[in-house]
Amino acid sequence: MTQETKPFSSTVADTLSQRVTVRFFHEKPIPEQMLQTILEAARRSPTSSNMQTYSIIVVRDQAVKQQLAVLAGNQKHIETCPVFIAFCADISRLEIACEMHGRSLAKTLETTLVATVDAALVGMSAETVAESFGLGAVMIGGIRNHPREAAELLGCPPGVYVVYGMCLGWPQEEKVPPQKPRMPDELIIHYESYSTADPRPLLAQYDEALAAHYGKQGRNLNRAAYTGVIANRLDKPSRPHLRNTLEEMGFRLV
Ligand SMILES: Cc1cc2nc3c(=O)[nH]c(=O)nc-3n(C[C@H](O)[C@H](O)[C@H](O)COP(=O)(O)O)c2cc1C
Repeated sequence: MTQETKPFSSTVADTLSQRVTVRFFHEKPIPEQMLQTILEAARRSPTSSNMQTYSIIVVRDQAVKQQLAVLAGNQKHIETCPVFIAFCADISRLEIACEMHGRSLAKTLETTLVATVDAALVGMSAETVAESFGLGAVMIGGIRNHPREAAELLGCPPGVYVVYGMCLGWPQEEKVPPQKPRMPDELIIHYESYSTADPRPLLAQYDEALAAHYGKQGRNLNRAAYTGVIANRLDKPSRPHLRNTLEEMGFRLV
């Protein structure tokens, strides 16, 4: 369906429909008021039981960005973006609130999940607002390679971990990639109950679509561009250190 014939459209729908991850930025800074507008709007995101169990750390310092880039697996875009934002799960204020009333926080997997979901929601809202202003963004899950070091570098107290980071900046237009195809809707969207259809044919179809997408960019000749990559990557535990480290940082995972 073309843009003109869509029965429903909005600026938010358009922003999301056109978005793509951007990894190459101009040096040009982000105006302070634009950044504040992004963060204020993002903070209107829903938050579990109004607990607001997240913190946002804005980093512009080049030396700190360089160290974060190394911690995240030498991701160059963290150095070249004008603003890096760490979206943190934060249960430290819950602990303080309980202490203020002579109680102690009963930490559970649920408190960890609540804080992690809160951080995810506020970050995605920030990304959408930023993109609506013409900025580009890449989220940085690689920061969980070294959660303790990232938290120390950013001065986080116990009960705070960086769920993911985000590089923000003005896109170098010629290096903005084409949109990656998504899986067929039938695989992802279920109505009333989970579909019982065998997902394999549609996964195979998606393998081909993604392979064609990469092929057009001269990358990755693996025809199983989705399932093959997943199988190669995830037949061993990813970030196996995470559970112990997060526990040591004040989170519960049981
Ligand atoms: C939580 C999260 C963490 C991510 N971490 C990284 C990262 O560390 N480095 C990176 O280059 N891209 C990262 N990405 C971007 C994804 O690779 C990208 O969203 C995905 O390939 C789909 O591409 P698209 O956003 O252009 O549609 C991350 C995305 C999410 C949602």
